[in-house]
Amino acid sequence: MSKSILVTGGAGYIGSHTVLQLLLSGCHVATVDNLDNSSEVAISRVRHLAGDSGKHLSFHKKKSNEARLKKIIYIKIFLNCRFDAVIHFAGSKAVGESVAKPLLYYNNNVIGTIILLEVMAAYGCKKLVFSSSASVYGSPDRVPCTEDFPLAPMNPYGQTKLMAEDICRDLHRSDPEWQIMLLRYFNPVGAHPSGLLGEDPRGIPNNLMPYVQQVAVERRPTLTVFGNNYSTKDGTGVRDYIHVVDLADGHNAALNKLFEKDSKIGCEAYNLGTGKGTSVLEIVSAFEKASGKKIPLVFGERRPGDCEVLYAATTKAETQLNWKAKYGIEEMCRDQWNWACNNPYGYGKSDSNTEDEIISTKTKASDSWFSDVCITS
Ligand code: UD1
Repeated sequence: MSKSILVTGGAGYIGSHTVLQLLLSGCHVATVDNLDNSSEVAISRVRHLAGDSGKHLSFHKKKSNEARLKKIIYIKIFLNCRFDAVIHFAGSKAVGESVAKPLLYYNNNVIGTIILLEVMAAYGCKKLVFSSSASVYGSPDRVPCTEDFPLAPMNPYGQTKLMAEDICRDLHRSDPEWQIMLLRYFNPVGAHPSGLLGEDPRGIPNNLMPYVQQVAVERRPTLTVFGNNYSTKDGTGVRDYIHVVDLADGHNAALNKLFEKDSKIGCEAYNLGTGKGTSVLEIVSAFEKASGKKIPLVFGERRPGDCEVLYAATTKAETQLNWKAKYGIEEMCRDQWNWACNNPYGYGKSDSNTEDEIISTKTKASDSWFSDVCITS
């Protein structure tokens, strides 16, 4: 029987890719998003890419971040439908902003999670997949990072993820009926191979890949590499970049685990990464190769709060979730570039193309991605 899943933050970068995978694997999906850092265009493109299954997607716009109103919206959604599980993406995610506006982050990410959990409890839905982050590890003194490493976030954003994880652990301890998967994402990059879904950051991108992309399409003149004197292969920071489609698949795997017969997962954390470390200069060079564009760069100071090397140990997800990332840096850069070429201004309309034109040309050109999608039952 098909499952009904509520996805909060489903119009966002990781959310939209995950909603698409869920629809393609036969789920019915309701998604709620305040569109603060996302676009409703992503929802209509997900519907389109899902084909017939697109009719199994409903979208609710959350108009306010005010706690009481947020709760009312969740209640209305739960009154309309019985959900088998919830995937909770909604939240704020810019590290720099979290330092400047900590209350906003604690409100959106911690209080937002509590409100959702309260409503889930009230309606008897006790299966959750939570969007956590590798930022809960802070700057570990060795790699690869296993899930039992000490948790020591270095900024309010990471702190909110750790607090939400702790709340989930306590909730499970208080009531073992709660089954919760805490997914710690490493560095999501890339885009859907159709070129229709991707990351569309507002303002100046904080993260490397969207910045490189904007330099390639000449929206910005140069990339500043933050530090070239780290003890790494070429002196620049090393991270575990993971294709967003692999990450979306990881959510399907997590749900499959939650829905296993007699599953008693409890409240468990899983790294979602590739287990491979790639430096900033390696990313730049791979992107230049994929795009045929030169990325002008300058070397700058280290960014405060950055760690030297961070990549995931992947054994736990591989053995317990039966999930492993399939794509490498080449595919990540290829799909990022495809997204950039098709949507140089993100989901904002370009001068020459209407949304209908964009959808029809892009899907015709890239039907092959369909055969690549991992469909679970
Ligand atoms: C950042 C967040 C992390 C969050 C993750 C989401 C920080 C400190 N951490 O991770 O909490 O979960 O994004 O993807 O922001 N770089 C440059 N120039 C740039 C941008 C980045 O050289 O213009 C370098 C960084 O120094 C780093 C690497 O690129 O070595 C990756 O940076 P970024 O994409 O921001 O990710 P993280 O810092 O790993």
